[in-house]
Amino acid sequence: MQQNSLTRKEIEDLAYYDFMSYLGVPYFHVGGLISTKELAELCRINEESKVLMVGCGAGFSSCFLAQTFGCSVVGVDIAEVSIRKANEKAKALGLEDKAKFRIGDAYDLPFEPGTFDVVITEFVSQFLDTDRAYREFVRVLKPGGMVGINEMYSDADVSHEVAEKIREAETIFSEITQLPFSLPSPEEWKLWLERAGLSDVHVYRHKASVSSKEFKLMAKALGSYGKFGRLFIDLMIGMTRYTISSRKIRNRFRKLSKGKGILMRNRSTSKHVGYVLAVGRK
Ligand SMILES: C[S@@+](CC[C@H](N)C(=O)[O-])C[C@H]1O[C@@H](n2cnc3c(N)ncnc32)[C@H](O)[C@@H]1O
Repeated sequence: MQQNSLTRKEIEDLAYYDFMSYLGVPYFHVGGLISTKELAELCRINEESKVLMVGCGAGFSSCFLAQTFGCSVVGVDIAEVSIRKANEKAKALGLEDKAKFRIGDAYDLPFEPGTFDVVITEFVSQFLDTDRAYREFVRVLKPGGMVGINEMYSDADVSHEVAEKIREAETIFSEITQLPFSLPSPEEWKLWLERAGLSDVHVYRHKASVSSKEFKLMAKALGSYGKFGRLFIDLMIGMTRYTISSRKIRNRFRKLSKGKGILMRNRSTSKHVGYVLAVGRK
């Protein structure tokens, strides 16, 4: 499938994350590159590290890690267009030797046991059956290697009304993506990493916020503020174009906005939602 030859019907039929990669959305995890950098530091990534990004999407974070830490990164995702975009990005940034991407499923990783120093997910584990997936992550890790996750959470102790609202948002994300989706508590994330046999598990809570440091990191990753501005403009144009021309896509964006509103803008729910950076050692 050639990206430029897609018809509107083919574009409408793309799975949600393939469609978003097609539009040019660089990443989805709410903590952005600031959180990616912090997680890499928690996992002690350096230029010797061999890193696996599971659910790498369009490869922005993976390329950022290769650029920032000099490590080698392999990204896998089930989304075909995203993987093609990721390989194009690595090539455009001259990172083909350091950042490689291929189709791959978190539950059946196409690698030998003990291949990687670090396995990372960013806004991916919450779409997964963690018991099954983390067993795979541990299998492909070297002894002493680290799993690092950058995922959203919701507090365990919330009122019935807030719990209902959060459930509504989970359902919306699940419907849009056609993937199971949940917002576990920080305690659940810890338990699941420990249940996979990892030790020294630490979970750090964060609140999502927009800062100028994020824009600086993005501009650096892209090469200039000009390229960052171009990406933003192209994205706005693409979203507007498909919102106007396709009812199916318009409905998708409407649902997305409702789900995001519940989690990020509604004051009674947003104070109970954020993201965790969590690490554990094999
Ligand atoms: C919210 S996006 C996050 C992408 C990227 N990590 C980021 O932070 O922008 C979730 C990604 O997980 C991928 N995904 C979902 N289930 C998967 C699975 N079983 N194996 C591999 N990737 C999966 C989706 O295709 C999608 O690209």
